[in-house]
Order: sequence, then structure tokens, then C-alpha cells
Amino acid sequence: MAGKKIRIVALLSGSGRTLQNLLNLQASGELQGDIVGVIGSLSGAYGLVRARNAGVPTCVIRKKDHPDVESFSAALTEQIQQWNPDLIVMAGFMCLYRMPPQFAGKVMNIHPALLPSFGGAGCYGHHVHEAVLAHGCKVSGCTVHFADNRYDCGPIIVQLTAPVREDDTPDSLAERVLEQEFKAYPLAINLFAQGRLRIEGRVVRILPK
Ligand code: GAR
Repeated sequence: MAGKKIRIVALLSGSGRTLQNLLNLQASGELQGDIVGVIGSLSGAYGLVRARNAGVPTCVIRKKDHPDVESFSAALTEQIQQWNPDLIVMAGFMCLYRMPPQFAGKVMNIHPALLPSFGGAGCYGHHVHEAVLAHGCKVSGCTVHFADNRYDCGPIIVQLTAPVREDDTPDSLAERVLEQEFKAYPLAINLFAQGRLRIEGRVVRILPK
């Protein structure tokens, strides 16, 4: 793989399967980066246990300990800066993070649907798959995008699809989409590490090797 290994900070709120996938790929040499710190927005988030098991430093910053999104975001930024990352990845992070201008183009999010459909405030986790099934979609998937201080809005980097089956439940669809998420996030991160992502307005150009 061309380019240097990057330093990555992960933000999460839940069980941390997204983080675990990245840690596994880091261990097998397939991720062009190292997770150097993990912030959990809930003290009980199992993703924090996964991080500690892998020897990654962790920190808890809870939204409910801050009066508003600005002060919550400022606390996140302060901790992130201490780890001096090249890239910040939201890995099942269910809060809004208002990043400072110097982080623009350095924060990625993964969403379990094909944006711009089925995104935005309140549309996260199992709510997404319930909405996709209720709408009668025949295809779903996942989106990795740069974050832009709004929910699920920034320039799209990678999208992978998954079929919707007649007998799907939100759980079975979530599982099929997660398989694609496990491919999409490392793909986007490695492209970033290789310096191959160029943001032009809301379009991300993928540069050749
Ligand atoms: C993943 O499917 C991720 O795409 C989704 O939550 C799950 C986290 O699983 N994220 C969102 O819905 C964000 N809008 P995990 O906690 O086991 O990694």
C-alpha cells in the first residue's frame, strides 16, 4: 500500500462492532492506520471494552454532562487533539459533533443506508432499517462520508449496496448491511491514507494510484 500509516481516533456510542472490524484489520495489516484513541459518548458502551482489550487508550465524554452541543463538541475536540490524529472516524457515534474548522475533511462517518435517503436526526441504528423496510425498498446499503457538522450530510466517499429480501426483519437487514460496512470503512480509510480523496464541493474525487 502506498503512503504512510495514519493515526486514527474513533468516536463511538455502542457495541463497537465497527471499531472491532478496524482493530482486526489493523492487526492483520490491512488497515493503513493505527487506532490511537477511542472516545465513548456513554460509559457503558461495549466498544470501550473492545478498545481496552486491544490496548487502545479510551476516554468517556458524555453529552448529558454538557449543557449544549457546543460545549460537548469542545470537550471532544480537546481530547481528540491530545491524540494528534490524521483522521477521526465516527464508528457508531450517535451524537452530533460540531468539529472545528481545522478538522474539515478529516472526520468520517459511516451510516447504514444509502444517503441521502434514510439519514438525519433520529435516523440511526435499527431505526434506519425499519424505515427502509417500511418504505418497501428493494436495495439498501451503507455510506461512508466526510462529516460536515450536520447529521449524515457531508460529501460521500464510498457506498456499497445490499439487497433487501422479502422476508427481511430490521435485524436481518442490519446484519447484511453491516457486512458491507465492514468493507466500506477500511476502503475509505485506506484511500484517505493514500492521499487519494479530493473534496470538490460536495463531490469526493477518488484519485488514481
Ligand atoms: C452501525 O451499523 C453504524 O453504521 C450505525 O450504527 C451501527 C453501529 O454498530 N451508525 C449509525 O446509525 C450512525 N448514524 P456498532 O456500535 O456495533 O459499531
